[in-house]
Amino acid sequence: MRLTVNGQAQEATARPGQCLRTFLRELGWFGVKKGCDAGDCGACTVHLDGEAVHACLLPAFRAEGRAVTTIEGLAGPCRPGGGPPELFHPMQDAFLDAQGFQCGFCTPGLIMTAAALDQGQRRDLGTALKGNLCRCTGYRAIRDAVAGTGHAEAPQACRAPVGRDVRAPAGAAVVSGTAPYTLDVAMPGLLHLKVLRAPHAHARIVAIDRAAALAVPGVVAVYTHADVPQRRFSTGRHENPADDAPDTLILDSIVRFVGQRVAAVLAESEAAAEAGVAALVVTYEIRPALLDPDAALRPDAPLVHDPADRASPPPGADAPPLSAHPNLAAEAHGAIGDVAVGFAQADLIHEADYVSQRVQHAALETHGALGWRDAEGRLVVRSSTQVPFLTRDALCALFDLDRTAVRVLCGRVGGGFGGKQEMLTEDLVALAVLRTGRPVRWDLTRQEQFTATTTRHPMRVRVKMGARADGTLTAIQLTVLSDTGAYANHAGGVLHHGCNECIAAYTCPNKRVDGVSVYTNTLPAGAFRGYGLSQTIFAVESALDELARGLGLDPFAMRRRNAVRPGDPLVATSLEPHDVQYGSYGLDQCLDLAQAALAEDSGAPPPGPDWLIGEGMAMAMIDTIPPRGHFAHAHLRREPDGYALAIGTAEFGNGTSTVHTQIAAQALSTTPDRIRLIQADTDAVAHDTGAYGSTGTVVAGQANFRAATALAGALTRAAAERMGVDPDACRLSGEVVETPAGPVPLSSLAPMEARAEADGSPRSVAFNVQAFRVAVHPGTGEVRILASIQAVDAGVVINPMQCRGQVEGGVAQALGAALYEDYRFDAAGGVLTQTFRNYHIPACADVPDTRVLFADTHDRIGPLGAKSMSESPYNPVAPALANAIRDATGARLTATPFAPDRIFRAVMAAVAEREGSAT
Ligand code: FES
Repeated sequence: MRLTVNGQAQEATARPGQCLRTFLRELGWFGVKKGCDAGDCGACTVHLDGEAVHACLLPAFRAEGRAVTTIEGLAGPCRPGGGPPELFHPMQDAFLDAQGFQCGFCTPGLIMTAAALDQGQRRDLGTALKGNLCRCTGYRAIRDAVAGTGHAEAPQACRAPVGRDVRAPAGAAVVSGTAPYTLDVAMPGLLHLKVLRAPHAHARIVAIDRAAALAVPGVVAVYTHADVPQRRFSTGRHENPADDAPDTLILDSIVRFVGQRVAAVLAESEAAAEAGVAALVVTYEIRPALLDPDAALRPDAPLVHDPADRASPPPGADAPPLSAHPNLAAEAHGAIGDVAVGFAQADLIHEADYVSQRVQHAALETHGALGWRDAEGRLVVRSSTQVPFLTRDALCALFDLDRTAVRVLCGRVGGGFGGKQEMLTEDLVALAVLRTGRPVRWDLTRQEQFTATTTRHPMRVRVKMGARADGTLTAIQLTVLSDTGAYANHAGGVLHHGCNECIAAYTCPNKRVDGVSVYTNTLPAGAFRGYGLSQTIFAVESALDELARGLGLDPFAMRRRNAVRPGDPLVATSLEPHDVQYGSYGLDQCLDLAQAALAEDSGAPPPGPDWLIGEGMAMAMIDTIPPRGHFAHAHLRREPDGYALAIGTAEFGNGTSTVHTQIAAQALSTTPDRIRLIQADTDAVAHDTGAYGSTGTVVAGQANFRAATALAGALTRAAAERMGVDPDACRLSGEVVETPAGPVPLSSLAPMEARAEADGSPRSVAFNVQAFRVAVHPGTGEVRILASIQAVDAGVVINPMQCRGQVEGGVAQALGAALYEDYRFDAAGGVLTQTFRNYHIPACADVPDTRVLFADTHDRIGPLGAKSMSESPYNPVAPALANAIRDATGARLTATPFAPDRIFRAVMAAVAEREGSAT
């Protein structure tokens, strides 16, 4: 068929049933993204004769004779594979100015939709953008972009860039659709991988008949549990692999949740691989399934990992203690003081169960990997991961390969939120490459993303908390049940973290925590933004609110009275080595800022006279780095026109690329555009634990700052020596070293480089305080947010615009979990919510603006005074909202999400209780 794409006449044949998105991507237009396959997310939006359409919904043949414009051609005619254009479309400029993206995977689609809007449509953006989802930004920056109110600064204009709103270095590539994400590369001779998934929650595979699959034209191989190394590992990735139980095989003869891998088919095309999967015949012996975490530790519970299924403990794993129930994945216990004594001293005690549901990361780029052998025969895997180095190490261990024989790298990653701190595709892709010697690609569908990747851990937290009449806490006790699902990836880490800072934030002489994480035959949980704290903080901050109410105290004042202060021991439960220190302290400022802003911010008016109005707040503390070591290396080299900075961390919307250029430029007295980043590649530096636990700025940034400081010193000393002057009298300034004897151009000095490392210790603490004013309709249970404020203590804020975006995005993601995001399962354990259409994540119209306020602190531990601030904004949102709803209605919500029917029932129950106690 003939058509015009981005001004170029094109002649190509569309396959039967092929959608326009795939057709365009196969022609090399990688700015057309794949986010959902169902027309829900808008990442594939293109213009068809000037009209914005979702290319995944349009059969390719419908473009016959028509003009298609993709993001690459929005500013004018172009050819595939080119870089950013010299001149942008005004909407692309507006997104750059407003920093209207984080990971940027949604950005091409959003710009295409926004560019096609008329002025009237732009006034109702909630409606106009209802077909375009963004999981990162919280939409305010996107609204600013469309309104043309952005003010980000060009990097070349920012000498001394720390504290300034510097544009992202990849911004031009992101808004022009030329930034290569994981699978945005053409690869000749590619094989495609597809996986058959289990229909049962628990079964033994008796037989797999692969004959019919192998007979499908184009199918090259079928792999089953008989074809994989019998080495158990965890998909969860940590610096110390022993942190996660080795309970997973690449392909297993036992399936433990609906959706687990059963067999892999490798074929010349995706269609052939899918046909091969459909032709596989599997015989199962169905086993009793454990779906209820409450039943997991009963003596007669079905065993998710029956020790009888294993001939011997996995290599490197200790045999479980005899007393431990096989369904116990992890436990955490800790205590200081005596809670019984503390409760006896209390004038008021609150005790209740708080339940947090399973939610999805819903990064717009699904998991995927592309593997091949390079010219030296090394295994190379290009992956959508937050942890390339730890993935490389896991592949080496699985396949008995030396580190020098494996390279793992990232393109730009389209969102993570903890979900990509797992190895979910790379192992099978590596196996297929090693077996066939050919390049192999596997990207998960959105359906697989919902049914076969990881989620937040569902938790039930029983909290008992006592206080004296003046509001002084006397005892806190938590009992936590966490459901890790079929595998224990992150079971222990999430449990320990969740049990720690939620109560470490309060000074109280008597604390006790007992937590268990149990296996069930359900979708595995894993790392998720907040890493267990969002669930426990929901319980603790709700309980604090109840105590404050019961004692007639202001909730801000109740927190001020009990919050930890510098000088207090930062001991919560004695669970971890105590390398946490007050590198800075801004909780007091955050409480003041949020309270004052809520008082002065009238926000949106109430929707009507029937609505009940209430206010609520909650606070959160987070250790700025995970415990037990987090390592990063940086390598900085002087180049003819600036510097090359090699760093291990991936960019997946966390903004660390921008921050790294700012930190290096600050130390080298230059502008960020002079820093060329080489990142997220195991060939780039010796090691990097990875971008999780909010460590990109505070660990890798520290290594970068040390390397940059060392290189600045070396350059200065070399210039001083050349001129025979005191180095202390010299100053690096841009491209010269100013000396008392005159300037020395850097270009005249010998090539120089510097390396540095950081080990993530000691650690500091960061704080967040969230406040809401809400309106609740008692007749329908609908809740509307009239004002949203979050005050944060992030130390020195290296890029305020970007940090504000992290906070807004965290609040938006948490609002989804607090209000409506919810996994639904059928009675047999299968996931029902398999699309964005029935697993609703916040759209533009759903998210209010959040006013973000920064405490004024300087951290003595973090680089240039900075602290972490990417996952913690999520944590106080659900309890602050619950407390506001309680204030409005009198109803205490003890389970998320706060769906209208749940609110309605809680309000009715509160009314009945009030009327009952009145009679
Ligand atoms: Fe929108 Fe990441 S920036 S999905």
